[in-house]
Amino acid sequence: MTQKQWTAVDSYFTDLFVRPDPALDAALQTSTAAGLPPHNVSPNQGKLLLLLAQIQGARTILEIGTLGGYSTIWLARALPSDGRLITLEANPKHAEVARANIAHAGLSDIVDLRLGQALSTLPQIAAEGNSPFDLIFIDADKPNNPDYFKWALKLSRPGSLIVADNVVRNGAVIDATSSDPSVQGVRRFNELLASEPRISATAIQTVGSKGYDGFAIAIVN
Ligand code: SAH
Ligand code: DHB
Ligand code: MG
Repeated sequence: MTQKQWTAVDSYFTDLFVRPDPALDAALQTSTAAGLPPHNVSPNQGKLLLLLAQIQGARTILEIGTLGGYSTIWLARALPSDGRLITLEANPKHAEVARANIAHAGLSDIVDLRLGQALSTLPQIAAEGNSPFDLIFIDADKPNNPDYFKWALKLSRPGSLIVADNVVRNGAVIDATSSDPSVQGVRRFNELLASEPRISATAIQTVGSKGYDGFAIAIVN
């Protein structure tokens, strides 16, 4: 199997299941034009996030890692009009692009973007009493994933869903001796998920336009 095939099949499913959405398309275009890295989830993965949030009946969502707001818009689309999504982004340029994309999608009233290192903004969110969140999506700097997991647990309730992107990284995740801090962060994160008695988790490998990667999906008991 080749990347070309994965991309072709991904396009086939995207054409079938992902309805054209001008705000989502524009979010990708402005992100590319502004020189943001192409680290957004794919359209089919965005649809998966939307479905997970809908299955969960989520009214409150926390996202760690906004980039240009592409996954943010997908997740926020799952929320009722009185729902709330807080998204955390450290890079001011990414945050600026995301704010414009979120506004263009008509989601500024639902989405609250916090600029800053997530490990600084997470304690603030905990102190504000906005938690617990129904769904927490972890998709920022992977070396900090173990800490993000600890915060996700702190900001959750029994029944909360925790989803993390990029837990496979082209298969690199199984290399216990990897010198890549992102691989080690993801490995430690997976081990914490596995060993936390309050958590029931699994991981799904994905192929598609974004290569070979995967999501961890966990429920808090
Ligand atoms: N969720 C996005 C992609 C996020 S890419 C989507 O699918 O559309 C990861 C993002 O995390 C980048 O924008 C990066 O700037 C941000 N980031 C990296 N380190 C961070 C940190 N310590 N705190 C908050 N955001 C961080
Ligand atoms: C990277 C980060 C992501 O969140 C992603 O989806 C793809 C790549 C990265 O840092 O390389
Ligand atoms: Mg990601």
